[in-house]
Amino acid sequence: MRRPTVEITHMQEFSAAHRLVSPRLTQAQNRELYGPCFTDHGHNYALEVTVRGSVDPQTGMVMDLNRLSRLIVERIIARVDHRHLNHDVPFLKGTITTAENVAVAFWDELEPALRAFKGCKLYRIRLNESHANRAEYYGPRKAASRSSSASSSRSSAKIRGARG
Ligand code: NI
Repeated sequence: MRRPTVEITHMQEFSAAHRLVSPRLTQAQNRELYGPCFTDHGHNYALEVTVRGSVDPQTGMVMDLNRLSRLIVERIIARVDHRHLNHDVPFLKGTITTAENVAVAFWDELEPALRAFKGCKLYRIRLNESHANRAEYYGPRKAASRSSSASSSRSSAKIRGARG
């Protein structure tokens, strides 16, 4: 029986505060590098979680999107919405809260929970920080296992646009 592989995506929005500060840089260097992002500010984020798997012929689904939605709320949204990402979120402790790093941290929180779902895997975390800026993370997989359209450095998050 034909079991095509399909990627499905669920999106959740949240609002959070953060500031960009690197412990490896001086105050002056941080101010120079991050500019206005060195001070507290907030974003209305949109988190897109993409799961890849085969379509179950019995259900017609890769994964129940309602279950995926609940998982994202439990593991991520409930812990970050209306919080300060630098101070209030244990799994981001010690992280420079760029969209890149936050996307990777979200992957690490979600991926283990998705292993329980047979026939599908977490494929991508896309974190939209604003309409202009987003980061995408495809997990810590080797470049060789990726499709030819993929960029060479799959283990690093991609960022588009200017820093926000
Ligand atoms: Ni920001």
